[in-house]
Amino acid sequence: MPRHVAIIMDGNGRWAKKRFMPRVAGHVKGVEMVREAVRACLERNIQYLTLFAFSSENWRRPQDEVSFLMQLFVKALEQEVEKLDRNGVRLRVVGDLSPFEPRLRDLIRAAEEKTAANTRLDLSIAANYGGRWDIMQAVNRMLATSPEKREGWSEADLETHLAMSFAPEPDLFIRTGGEERISNFLLWQLAYTEFYFTPTLWPDFDTAEFDLAIASYQQRERRFGRTSGQLAGDASSA
Ligand code: IPE
Ligand code: IPE
Ligand code: MG
Repeated sequence: MPRHVAIIMDGNGRWAKKRFMPRVAGHVKGVEMVREAVRACLERNIQYLTLFAFSSENWRRPQDEVSFLMQLFVKALEQEVEKLDRNGVRLRVVGDLSPFEPRLRDLIRAAEEKTAANTRLDLSIAANYGGRWDIMQAVNRMLATSPEKREGWSEADLETHLAMSFAPEPDLFIRTGGEERISNFLLWQLAYTEFYFTPTLWPDFDTAEFDLAIASYQQRERRFGRTSGQLAGDASSA
């Protein structure tokens, strides 16, 4: 089983369009599928689930859609946090939260506090997140720790300041909706992640689809720069 799964939940708009419904109906269905994905992770003992809900570029969408998404986020927090908590889920929201309405920021803070002691599943929602933003905010925070230091910074120094420094790097990255790109999701952290792209639209991404992604992951050989032979040797000596 992968320890950390990161998903770009794409294709809500197209799902709705196919049904002659407004794009936002796809987002509503998308929230339902988040519930299903969380359940699947709990049942499979996957420790970390990270979901890309809103990118730093999604502000470019029509004003109506952006405000609907914000309302949906508020509603989901109001309705789901209690149940997440009961199921041992720790919720975090990663991204630049400063442009969000105070009400949404308060709900996020309250949800994070309420679930802070839970250990069964670490659920992270990436909201107003961008991989480049993350690297830059980490660089700035790292430099601020020692303003006189001019050189000699290491990868480890930077990593402690990344928005997801609490989690191991994702083992499996899934993107639904057919696009084969990262769209400024976790850039630093995906260096050695296994990628899985599926044309299935997010509102159709059920547990059976999730299991297909996991099965694909389980066939991969993660070499991290080594040779196959070395890995076989490692296994027999272990
Ligand atoms: C993903 O679905 C959800 C968000 C980006 C918020 P889309 O809304 O991008 O759906 P498509 O890609 O237009 O079908
Ligand atoms: C990526 O989807 C962001 C989220 C799913 C939140 P987009 O639909 O915004 O990505 P692009 O624009 O097709 O690259
Ligand atoms: Mg999209």
